[in-house]
Amino acid sequence: MAKGRAKYACSECGTVCAQWVGQCPGCKAWNTVEEEQIIAHPRISRKGGSDASGVALVARKAEVRPLIEYVETSIERLPTGEEEFDRVLGGGLVPGAVVLLGGEPGIGKSTLAMQTAMRAQGKILYVTGEESPEQVRLRADRLGELESRLLILPETSIDAIVEAVQVEQPQLLIVDSVQTLHSSRVESAPGSVAQVRESTAELLLAAKPMQLPVLLIGHITKDGALAGPKVLEHMVDVVLTFEGDRHHAFRILRASKNRFGSTNEAGIFEMQQQGLLPVANPSDVLLGNGVSGENGGASGTALAVAIEGARPIMVEVQALVSTAVYGTPQRSVTGYELRRLHMLLAVLEKRCGFKIGASDVFLNIAGGLKIGDPALDLSIVAAALGSSLDMAVAPKTAFAGEVGLTGEVRPVSRLEQRAREAARMGIERFVVSGLGRSKIALPKGLKLIEVSRVSDLQRVIF
Ligand code: TYD
Ligand code: MG
Repeated sequence: MAKGRAKYACSECGTVCAQWVGQCPGCKAWNTVEEEQIIAHPRISRKGGSDASGVALVARKAEVRPLIEYVETSIERLPTGEEEFDRVLGGGLVPGAVVLLGGEPGIGKSTLAMQTAMRAQGKILYVTGEESPEQVRLRADRLGELESRLLILPETSIDAIVEAVQVEQPQLLIVDSVQTLHSSRVESAPGSVAQVRESTAELLLAAKPMQLPVLLIGHITKDGALAGPKVLEHMVDVVLTFEGDRHHAFRILRASKNRFGSTNEAGIFEMQQQGLLPVANPSDVLLGNGVSGENGGASGTALAVAIEGARPIMVEVQALVSTAVYGTPQRSVTGYELRRLHMLLAVLEKRCGFKIGASDVFLNIAGGLKIGDPALDLSIVAAALGSSLDMAVAPKTAFAGEVGLTGEVRPVSRLEQRAREAARMGIERFVVSGLGRSKIALPKGLKLIEVSRVSDLQRVIF
């Protein structure tokens, strides 16, 4: 085997060091520097030029031109055949763009990739490094009719994959997953920082000149970051994450980076027997008939109008406040940020005089969706209040407001859009911030109830 030169690189930021150090000099993280072996390679070079990662530079003349000469051409996008997926991408896959799709195991990454492979136009090459072709076939059969233009390649060697791409010239390349790839130029094991980075770099180098869109599936670590080097996210054009609770049917697809579109869009899917189905009106499915309090007007629930991507969604927030059985009270959350709940409970205690410091508090966003919109704050406070007082919020009431540390209720964005959604779902009372609100056109049948402080809430909602 060729004698390699060892180098050390940080798995977080990619900083290269000459020797191993405990703390990365770049990002100051501890124990992230790992050894990697790059095998010396003869490379095409222009007077020995190569970039920092050792990727060979193709010998061609540097061309400097005024920017004004580059006229904007509209990008031909390849629709994925999935409306929700296209929405997040900004209208479809862009030729030559590499899309990284991350998510927890079992969330449906391979399912989404296979659906795309079956519904997008043209010849598609699906590289599987995790499952056998028979396993992939089993899933595909559940999703619909197979056509012969869908090619499968069980392979993990990047050189073999690039060669297959050059021979087959597909319109779309799907790789499941990036963690299984290995390049002969790096000695470390598949899935290691160096391998993931090098394999992706080689894939990029092959895909760009061919104008080939690539969908790369990536795993996610325990704390929700994409496994592999952080630099991976810098290298690719689009980073998408698939979120949701594995035991629930709903999934949200979000973009955290998109060089060809907005990162404000979100796609909502429901996992069914026949694959991932788009959810056009999430509120309808999420709420069922909970709007008018038909489930007995239970205490501890409140409805909120959140915005996911560009769309309003009505969700049901459930809170349970009960005396702690053990010494230390528990706080647990599904679908919202735990730290945010801690903050809201502290505000409730300090500003409303509610002694819930010694109580267990459980919070649940019904349906298994993970919501990031702080407009949910007000409904969470209302639900927690309701549960601790054992009183039900008045029927046909919804909330949208952010809660600040001094106990003030702050206005939220796109109130008019939220109000329309609330009215559409049959809400009659909409509780919002009374602070510095801009004028909105109110839909018919909807009454605004303004609160400026969380301490006013108790007076108006029960
Ligand atoms: P999968 O796409 O393999 O997840 P990932 O690649 O992210 O690990 O599938 C996730 C789950 O979805 C799996 O447990 C089975 C389920 N599933 C359905 O419910 N319906 C379907 O049609 C398919 C294909 C999968
Ligand atoms: Mg998979």
